[in-house]
Amino acid sequence: MPFVKYILPALAASQLAFATSDPCGNAKVQNQGDADALAQCGTIKGDITIAKSYTGTLSFSGFENVTGSITCDGGENITDITADKIIKIGKEFNLNGLTRLTTLAFGNLNNVGSISWNALPKLQSLNFNAGVTQAGDVMIQNTGLTSLDGISLKQVGMFQIQNNRDLMKININNLMNASDLINFSGNYDQLMIDLPNLGTGTNMTFRNISSISLPSLEKLTGQLGFWGTEFKTFSAPNLTTVGDVVFMDNSKLTNITMPVLTTVNGGFNIARNDKLSSINLPKLNRVTGAIDFSGKFNTVDLNALNDVEGGFNLQSTDGNFSCNHFDNLRKNVIKGKYKCDAKTNKPTTSNGNSGTSSSSGSSSSGSSTATSSGAAVANGASVAVTGVAAFFYAVAQLL
Ligand SMILES: *[C@@H]1O[C@H](CO)[C@@H](O)[C@H](O)[C@H]1NC(C)=O
Ligand SMILES: *[C@@H]1O[C@H](CO)[C@@H](O)[C@H](O)[C@H]1NC(C)=O
Ligand SMILES: *[C@@H]1O[C@H](CO)[C@@H](O)[C@H](O)[C@H]1NC(C)=O
Ligand SMILES: *[C@@H]1O[C@H](CO)[C@@H](O)[C@H](O)[C@H]1NC(C)=O
Ligand SMILES: *[C@@H]1O[C@H](CO)[C@@H](O)[C@H](O)[C@H]1NC(C)=O
Ligand SMILES: *[C@@H]1O[C@H](CO)[C@@H](O)[C@H](O)[C@H]1NC(C)=O
Ligand SMILES: *[C@@H]1O[C@H](CO)[C@@H](O)[C@H](O)[C@H]1NC(C)=O
Ligand SMILES: *[C@@H]1O[C@H](CO)[C@@H](O)[C@H](O)[C@H]1NC(C)=O
Ligand SMILES: *[C@@H]1O[C@H](CO)[C@@H](O)[C@H](O)[C@H]1NC(C)=O
Repeated sequence: MPFVKYILPALAASQLAFATSDPCGNAKVQNQGDADALAQCGTIKGDITIAKSYTGTLSFSGFENVTGSITCDGGENITDITADKIIKIGKEFNLNGLTRLTTLAFGNLNNVGSISWNALPKLQSLNFNAGVTQAGDVMIQNTGLTSLDGISLKQVGMFQIQNNRDLMKININNLMNASDLINFSGNYDQLMIDLPNLGTGTNMTFRNISSISLPSLEKLTGQLGFWGTEFKTFSAPNLTTVGDVVFMDNSKLTNITMPVLTTVNGGFNIARNDKLSSINLPKLNRVTGAIDFSGKFNTVDLNALNDVEGGFNLQSTDGNFSCNHFDNLRKNVIKGKYKCDAKTNKPTTSNGNSGTSSSSGSSSSGSSTATSSGAAVANGASVAVTGVAAFFYAVAQLL
């Protein structure tokens, strides 16, 4: 039994280490008594680890700040975690697999190093009365949350909100600046996102949402991407500069409008948005990658285009725009491979994929195209027409 001989002294030593260690330092919480022992502290200088065997209700009191992390991995029998005094968690707030957790009440919490919550299916709301205004990365996945009320960030790093199937509405009124990827996907498929004051960010990608409002967005250094969304119109009224732009498989989208967008530092892709009728980019001047638009759209306003470093592929089944206009840009403006076809039965992306989704030619999509092209005609927004109008306007100015 030489094994036991070594184990026993090691255990004794570790218990000794616990006994003499700082009562307000690292803590492992296995029962309410362990939590109560921390109530004498003002600040926990270390990490709080909640044992996965913890059962029932857990309540922290006394201390206001934790310099390290609060974590629990696999605590399937924990139903409530309450901590009304905690203001700040210095490092991580990680909860994973607390499948019976129904209450998370941190009424004073406003500052967290990072949040990572995963597999909290019974958690439907947060009792975060003060609201978390500062956090680094925030990742919330596979929860039962119906809103993110209580997460009222002013600034965020990475913001990943995924597979929260009941999450219907997100309004983060305070958020002004995101310093890393914002990624929403696989939540409730009618998720409405409102980021009324977000002015700058890096990359923003959205899947499975039904509305998006970005009225203040001015500048993104990275990608703006939409896949499989259900909104009908997209407008970014203040956006001037962005990295890559993607609109792919957005089945209800009819209108894309970015009235002050001047620069795309990357590629611009639009494909398989079968209801898309009108693309309005009247100030778009410079695209450092390629322009690749294919589908059933009717009008395209690219009247300010002056520099395309990559290729240019514009193909539609129902285009009411003149390829002559773009043919003329071929020499000086468009540096890469060029293709323009306003009326083709099989529009393709530049790499040969279908520009429409398979259900093309059905009577319902046919009639809706007719309706939206009617509206577009009424608005008189085709490139050819505005080009001619601009020419006459210029002549009129000369006279
Ligand atoms: C906890 O942190 C907050 C904000 O940083 C501070 O105002 C408060 O005094 C701290 N509390 C204690 C007990 O140190
Ligand atoms: C949760 O409780 C059940 C039933 O008492 C038990 O079998 C299981 O081991 C507990 N889970 C954990 C992680 O302790
Ligand atoms: C946004 O946050 C980043 C990182 O903190 C910072 O570098 C940048 O200046 C901020 N931008 C604005 C407009 O506040
Ligand atoms: C966003 O999340 C989805 C789902 O997890 C993932 O497939 C996608 O790659 C993420 N996007 C980025 C840019 O990381
Ligand atoms: C849009 O940009 C203008 C000019 O920078 C600014 O005055 C206006 O407040 C912005 N609008 C919104 C909703 O942020
Ligand atoms: C962010 O966007 C840039 C440029 O659009 C792209 O090259 C990069 O891969 C993106 N990063 C992520 C994490 O999506
Ligand atoms: C989300 O959208 C994608 C298309 O980008 C689709 O394939 C997927 O089934 C959708 N997921 C949900 C949960 O609706
Ligand atoms: C597209 O939307 C913009 C603003 O959202 C609007 O001004 C324009 O008239 C719409 N165009 C069409 C053809 O519906
Ligand atoms: C194209 O638009 C012009 C003016 O808006 C309109 O007169 C013309 O009928 C349209 N052509 C088609 C094929 O829709």
